[in-house]
Amino acid sequence: MPLLTARDTESPRNTASAVTAPDPSPADLSVLDQVEEISFSPAPESHLLRLDHPQETPSEEFRSLRTKLNHMQTLQNLHSLIVTSPSPAEGKSFTAVNLALAQAHLADNPTLLVDLDLRRPVMHNLFQLDRSPGMTDYLLGKEPLHRVMKKVAGTNLYVIPAGSSVKNPLELLNLREVRTLFSQLPSLFNWVIMDTPPILFSADSNLLSTLADGTILVIRIGETTIDSVTRAMQTLCENNVLGIVANGARAGELYYKYTYYYARHEEPEEEDEAVEDEEKD
Ligand SMILES: Nc1ncnc2c1ncn2[C@@H]1O[C@H](COP(=O)(O)OP(=O)(O)OP(=O)(O)O)[C@@H](O)[C@H]1O
Ligand SMILES: [Mg+2]
Repeated sequence: MPLLTARDTESPRNTASAVTAPDPSPADLSVLDQVEEISFSPAPESHLLRLDHPQETPSEEFRSLRTKLNHMQTLQNLHSLIVTSPSPAEGKSFTAVNLALAQAHLADNPTLLVDLDLRRPVMHNLFQLDRSPGMTDYLLGKEPLHRVMKKVAGTNLYVIPAGSSVKNPLELLNLREVRTLFSQLPSLFNWVIMDTPPILFSADSNLLSTLADGTILVIRIGETTIDSVTRAMQTLCENNVLGIVANGARAGELYYKYTYYYARHEEPEEEDEAVEDEEKD
């Protein structure tokens, strides 16, 4: 299972996969012309990336993740992906929104962020939108697609909030309309990134991962247990899990190791002791 880390190839709007992925029912491209624009004014505590400040972490981490995924897109049909994690509060929404922002920052890379966590949706809060109209309203035939979607002004990012609350999300996600939407959205967007509930707490994510081209599993360092990762992977067994995002690694941990080796090079007489210390870690 690869960790999704940095690669150096950027390839928005990959044509190879577009050629090998026939879309039997492409969506009407004029939909996007009718979408309302919203200003980008994230809630102060939202931890949304500011890509105009590239020196700030975790911008760099999300650019690396973006690069890795764009490279994967050159190798396989990969336009829709779901973001899930074994348990609550491990950083699914944080990862989904920041990855979408990072993708949308590239030119010619239209990106859609969909809140498919119909149980604890947050995207409307992060973008300071109303929760509805949104995805549930579209799926129930109450709103057309262009009405439930918003475009973040000045970017390539489109957002669909969760929509009106429904009693049984899983039943809704089993509708044929969901499959149809999954087959149509890639004709409008290069990336469709979906936030979903924790996989060990509802069947929604597992169902959605069978429809998406790929799945990203988020784990939170120091909180997610090996047992829950194992169970999550077993649940996702036949689905295309692209890799694991390790969320919450302490900044500086890697730098410490590199600094350490560099220092040892400067002071060879302490080498034996230093090696022993490292092995104890
Ligand atoms: N790497 C991070 N750095 C700073 N804050 C983070 C990080 N990851 C997550 N958070 C914060 O932790 C909280 C929980 O994260 P998030 O909402 O993304 O988790 P979740 O897995 O989507 O939770 P839920 O299961 O409720 O949907 C949020 O306030 C989020 O902003
Ligand atoms: Mg969430």
